[in-house]
Amino acid sequence: MRYLTFAMAKGRLAKDSLKLFEQIGITCEEMKDKDTRKLIFTNEELGMRFFLAKPSDVPTYVEYGAADIGIVGKDTILEEGRNLFEVMDLGLGKCRMCVCGPESAGELLNRNEIIRVATKYPNIAKDYFSSEKNQTVEIIKLNGSVELAPIVGLSEVIVDIVETGSTLKENGLTVLEEICPLSARVVVNQVSLRMQHERIDDFLTKLNGVINNQ
Ligand code: PRP
Repeated sequence: MRYLTFAMAKGRLAKDSLKLFEQIGITCEEMKDKDTRKLIFTNEELGMRFFLAKPSDVPTYVEYGAADIGIVGKDTILEEGRNLFEVMDLGLGKCRMCVCGPESAGELLNRNEIIRVATKYPNIAKDYFSSEKNQTVEIIKLNGSVELAPIVGLSEVIVDIVETGSTLKENGLTVLEEICPLSARVVVNQVSLRMQHERIDDFLTKLNGVINNQ
């Protein structure tokens, strides 16, 4: 039997998803060994393989069929814009993609001013400002600690993930506009969904069962 291959965004998301998987009898003991340098883990009995990847690479593995199924945040799915099927919301890691900045920057969003927007998500930001707001902006790509940008004058606002809101609060910033809600999703390769229909359907049905019972 061909392996069903899972690509999981490494970090808390993978840990929490694996807990859900355990509840439907999908286990991978090898993966729990914290000291291992192995990259791919197999459960021969189930005919399944699992690997952890950088979140932004998960949609790539799934689009090309190197993984049949991916577990990844909606933020990454939107940013990467790959061809894949998003089939389920796991309800894990709920947060929001927002435009944030100092309170005073709010008015810059209501005028047709050219402002600078710092973000780790240039595609999401570009799309939001051009399609939804029709506002011309300059996008500045950063790789982390994006909240710094408006404080030190790199940009007027940021587009970033807000979970508890404490990073914003501690830095004197606030949510100015909400772009969309985010959470972990199950994505499937388009060919796999047809060719491995029964196995994938079985997996999704069982997973749905535990999610609805939580
Ligand atoms: C994320 C995000 C915000 C923060 C939001 O950053 O970019 O900075 O978490 O969480 P909060 O609303 O609960 O404060 P992350 O910790 O992933 O690190 P980064 O700044 O390097 O992107």
